[in-house]
Amino acid sequence: MGRVTTSTADLWHHYGRARATSDRAVPDTFRWSWGQDAGPGPEVLGDLTGRCVGDLGAGAARHAAHLVVHHQPARVIAIDASPAQHAMATDLYADLAPRLHIMQSGAVPHLQAMTGAYDVLYSVFGALDFTDPRELLPAAAAALKPGGRLVYSTLAHYLSGAPAQPDAVAADIPAKTPDGEATMMRRWVLQEHVWTKLLDEAGFTNITVDVLPAAPGPRTADTLLVSAHYPS
Ligand SMILES: C[S@@+](CC[C@H](N)C(=O)[O-])C[C@H]1O[C@@H](n2cnc3c(N)ncnc32)[C@H](O)[C@@H]1O
Repeated sequence: MGRVTTSTADLWHHYGRARATSDRAVPDTFRWSWGQDAGPGPEVLGDLTGRCVGDLGAGAARHAAHLVVHHQPARVIAIDASPAQHAMATDLYADLAPRLHIMQSGAVPHLQAMTGAYDVLYSVFGALDFTDPRELLPAAAAALKPGGRLVYSTLAHYLSGAPAQPDAVAADIPAKTPDGEATMMRRWVLQEHVWTKLLDEAGFTNITVDVLPAAPGPRTADTLLVSAHYPS
């Protein structure tokens, strides 16, 4: 039986590690869906030309690298709390500096230190899924410029098929420590109306939530694609 880890074990040590050994390319596409295979792309972020963009929970920074290479943002800051993910992103894409800035930090303290700095914040199954939204969403609102935009994809239901939560509560899900020990981590899988209420309480407007249906196959899931603006 696993235990809940409260230490600083990096529970993202293994994520994307095998892929990074063989696929070092900047992706040609940017997808929001769980399967990364279909659905809308970065156009959902609006025109990024000259914009300051932040990826919250960027992992290996593949989405951020795509934006830097295939769009014209002033800068994309790829933020991730995991030392392993930060190292992987640096190994893969450090040559895209200075327009890609790879930063190791928790999303909340980073955003709290960046008042009014960002035009666009986004997350692809990243920090929004694994951080208390009552801390993260107000911090994101404060870090956006007036008229700025937050867009994120998150699970529409648990991978088991169980429905998302009707309240703003996390569930413990299985994870692995760097040395392979079974443990648990917290994930927020919330129903559409819960996200809408939390975003509204954090000061966002123009909130939309779209369901991106899963492609057929094993371990697929529907995606919620959430978009909101910080008022002008
Ligand atoms: C499922 S991975 C997704 C990574 C990437 N967005 C992708 O699509 O490949 C989740 C990532 O979010 C990061 N993360 C979770 N909570 C975070 C937080 N509060 N601040 C920064 N990064 C966080 C983890 O370290 C992990 O790299």
